[in-house]
Amino acid sequence: MKVKKLIIPAAGWGTRFLPLTKTVHKELVPILNKPAIDYLVEEAIDSGIEEIWLIISPRKEQLLEYFRVYYDLEEELRQKNKDELLNLLQKTNFDKSSKIKIGTIYQDEQLGLGHAISLISRKIKNEPFAVILGDDLIYSPNKPAIKQLIDEFNKKQASILGVTSVPWENVNKYGIVVPKNLEEKNEKVFEIASAVEKPDVKNAPSNKAIIGRYVFTPEIVTLLKQTLPGVGGEIQLVDAFPELMKTQKIFAFELEGTRYDLGSIEGFVKANIDYALNDLKIKQSIIEHIKEKKL
Ligand code: UTP
Repeated sequence: MKVKKLIIPAAGWGTRFLPLTKTVHKELVPILNKPAIDYLVEEAIDSGIEEIWLIISPRKEQLLEYFRVYYDLEEELRQKNKDELLNLLQKTNFDKSSKIKIGTIYQDEQLGLGHAISLISRKIKNEPFAVILGDDLIYSPNKPAIKQLIDEFNKKQASILGVTSVPWENVNKYGIVVPKNLEEKNEKVFEIASAVEKPDVKNAPSNKAIIGRYVFTPEIVTLLKQTLPGVGGEIQLVDAFPELMKTQKIFAFELEGTRYDLGSIEGFVKANIDYALNDLKIKQSIIEHIKEKKL
């Protein structure tokens, strides 16, 4: 079955980026002249997704503003013949007439990522769906990260988690997967035996971390609804995996691309440096600016 629907969970508090996130939500932090959420929506559309569901909390309605049509601003640009800017602006317009639908689901209480994903139940009928985390940007010019997983899903018809190898000392920041056959651990795609959320460095079963891209079969949703709070008192996505694995396989897929954790100040700064260096209009002036620092 074709993957047409995608969720962007974006209801988290964003405490690692305080005090900014009091009013500027991390999905709206700029990477050059576009907010993070714009890159994520673009990735979904470039991957063939037709329906996007943003999971937000009531205090994050500002995210929806970004996709509204601003007729007065458009008129201003039209009158001044600023066609290029008008075109740029109109790419961010999503309303009832748009080919791609962007909808909203409210998560009233921040009960965890697993809970946020379970809220899609009202919007999917027995069909697979993809997930892009709202604070995870992956630069992958050859093939968008979520498309890499969708293509693999089409071969396997089973849930796929995007993973990457992280330094061992950082495993306690991620969900970590355990390959079913240890000799497959360096393969690009492998079946998993289990996954643990934020393991201690000394007990970590591997250094393959789940990063913010997934494709799931619909059965995960019912299981998430039955999952009890786990690590940190939150309903953890990985805690639904053992039940799902009783009837289906779950695979991990080593994603190509550079990942930026936009929930952290460091990730945000690195993303801006890299995107600036990829932008031919400003690249040279940024290089000269850094050279002047004589690091
Ligand atoms: P994080 O744990 O990174 O996000 O969740 P957070 O809670 O916003 O961040 P900190 O730790 O306070 O800085 C990963 C993703 O899951 C979403 C977040 O918005 C983020 O995209 N999430 C998390 C929800 O949508 N709902 C939740 O209840 C928790």
